[in-house]
Amino acid sequence: MKIIVTKDYETLSEKAAEIMISVVRENPNAVLGLATGSTPIGLYRLMAEDHQKNGTSYKNVRAVNLDEYLGLPPTNDQSYRYFMRTNLFDHLDIDLSETHIEDGLAKDEAAECARYDALLRNLPRDIQLLGIGANGHIAFNEPGTPFETETHVVSLTENTIAMNARFFKSEDEVPRRAFTMGPKSIMEAKKILILAVGENKARAVREMAEGPVSPSLPASILRLHPDCTLIADEAAASLLKKGE
Ligand code: GLP
Repeated sequence: MKIIVTKDYETLSEKAAEIMISVVRENPNAVLGLATGSTPIGLYRLMAEDHQKNGTSYKNVRAVNLDEYLGLPPTNDQSYRYFMRTNLFDHLDIDLSETHIEDGLAKDEAAECARYDALLRNLPRDIQLLGIGANGHIAFNEPGTPFETETHVVSLTENTIAMNARFFKSEDEVPRRAFTMGPKSIMEAKKILILAVGENKARAVREMAEGPVSPSLPASILRLHPDCTLIADEAAASLLKKGE
């Protein structure tokens, strides 16, 4: 795992944007694996700015997202579909029909997981962007998820519900379940870019980069990927051993 430490969030977003934009410039038909959460918002703003100023085109780019809450329609402002439109897709020339995410309203959950796995097999990702949960989760793969798991439905942990409550009016409104790409599907991307910001991610970052590779810390699987870059701000990197 290559580790880049930046002095602040803006620099982290700039470095991440350089990487994402270069993937699209090198391959105008790229498939991007995208993520939600507060961490990639700065990156998405810079991708939109670059598109507007420099004309980087997403006309032939396809996008697949990691996860979606169960029970929220795409029009709900807390759904990840809504997040992706407002934070990124609406500011690019991407074809919305080529942007994919699990259907939070799917009635047949198993069929929806199988549909998404088939879609992922047809759209090999050039890069997969990730954030990290304070408990080391990636996407919604909570501690204990076997590494070979593909798309599945998860019951969110109390920790994740509490962390994500800041986006909702109250903790009661946070959906309890979600669809998520599994660790196996995440690892199939050619390149992985994981971003970590803030002191509350420092323990998870240390465990991911220096602890045992184990499903008890889902992000640790990334150490087995041949082309994975972590960009962390100083606070998130503060517990890493010096000189690494
Ligand atoms: C959610 C998402 C993850 C994300 C994590 C961290 O649980 N499912 O994909 O990485 O939150 O979010 P944030 O970037 O807001 O810290």
